Amino acid sequence: MSLKLGVNIDHVATLRQARHATMLDSPNAEPVLLDLAREAVAGGADSITIHLRADRRHIQDRDVTDICQANLAPVNFEMGNTEEILLIALAHRPAFVCLVPENRQEISTEGGLDAAGLQAGLEETIKRLQGAGIAVSLFIDPDPQQLEATKQLGAEMVELHTGAFANALEPGPRQAELERLTAGAALGHQLGLQVNAGHGINSANVSELFQVPHLAELNIGHHLVSRALHVGLRQSVAEMRRLMDGYPG
Ligand code: PXP
Repeated sequence: MSLKLGVNIDHVATLRQARHATMLDSPNAEPVLLDLAREAVAGGADSITIHLRADRRHIQDRDVTDICQANLAPVNFEMGNTEEILLIALAHRPAFVCLVPENRQEISTEGGLDAAGLQAGLEETIKRLQGAGIAVSLFIDPDPQQLEATKQLGAEMVELHTGAFANALEPGPRQAELERLTAGAALGHQLGLQVNAGHGINSANVSELFQVPHLAELNIGHHLVSRALHVGLRQSVAEMRRLMDGYPG
């Protein structure tokens, strides 16, 4: 089975929001998110990821409606576990929800979710999402306790946080992170979870992840949108797709 590519287009909205605090005044404020989502799909994106944050720093409510209604590709909706955002997810029924921790001060999602520590609050949310036909993923560190908790909570998927790997520049710590990811992926697979991965992945480090088994999907944002400034999003996504075809499966 080939490795799927989820393209996170939050940073397209980040650029737009640099000039437009809200989209209410001008639905065509540029860059137009929907156009870029189309470009990502044309380049080979298997799904489109958007994260509606509580502070609305990039994706706006209207974007969620536009992207979900356009039906370009399955939508992966990243969200913190709050009632406000949950109701929005339930109203739009994206194909997937990835539950992430959300901290107002962070620049991007920093650590994995504490699935083991937050069991009670997550269980109810996961049930409500699944009741609406939405498949649920938890964004966690590749830690056995978190994987076991994800299974216990009944989520179908995990997204293993690759940020520590991407940030580890010295060979020793980098290899240690790859080994954590490898063990996490093996355990996730053994537990019957779909294993995805994301955060900090780029064209220079993606092939190192090929040693991690059982990966179904990578979620990539920052690099693809940055590279798009040089070559356009369609080509940026297509280049990554080609690199990912090297995954042994
Ligand atoms: N996966 C999750 C759960 C994330 O929160 C993010 C960042 O928004 C990504 C993947 C993509 O990370 P990056 O932008 O570093 O590729």
